[in-house]
Amino acid sequence: MRELKSDRQHKITFTLDGRQVSGDAEPHLLLSDFLREKLGVTSVHVGCEHGVCGTCTVHIDGKAVRACLTFAVQVGNRRVDTVESLSNNEGELNDLQSAFRKHHALQCGFCTPGILMSVEHYLRHNSDPTESDVRDMLSGHLCRCTGYVGMVRAIMETAAKRKSGI
Ligand code: FES
Ligand code: FES
Repeated sequence: MRELKSDRQHKITFTLDGRQVSGDAEPHLLLSDFLREKLGVTSVHVGCEHGVCGTCTVHIDGKAVRACLTFAVQVGNRRVDTVESLSNNEGELNDLQSAFRKHHALQCGFCTPGILMSVEHYLRHNSDPTESDVRDMLSGHLCRCTGYVGMVRAIMETAAKRKSGI
């Protein structure tokens, strides 16, 4: 049977959480599926698969992006960071992750990787958010366990500490 042009595999090489990786992907393969199924990065979670829930959020060249709305072939030669990039080489949580743990900002944890990546991007550009700003930002993520109160506390505390250099 003749191979359809649209089914052809393309080799993609990019930087994932600080190391260079490669893999083959059909043009229509989503980045979320590529990361999970071809590279085994199961910390990237998949919920709605159409850009609504936010659980698949990763950074591409430093910007928070829905991996389910991105084709794998789009990340060639770019930098992709997942939640795995937040802890250090010894696996110690960063300040935001620690604040989430302290404030019980996760229950089942399904939404957490995507939320952490969005918050990291957000705080880089909004170092002094109000609680209302944070709630507005979180409205782009669905938490089925509805643990938003703890998240707001954790984010506000992290922002305040980063701002004062603690
Ligand atoms: S799985 Fe990507 S936004 Fe829901
Ligand atoms: S902690 Fe369970 S979905 Fe958010």
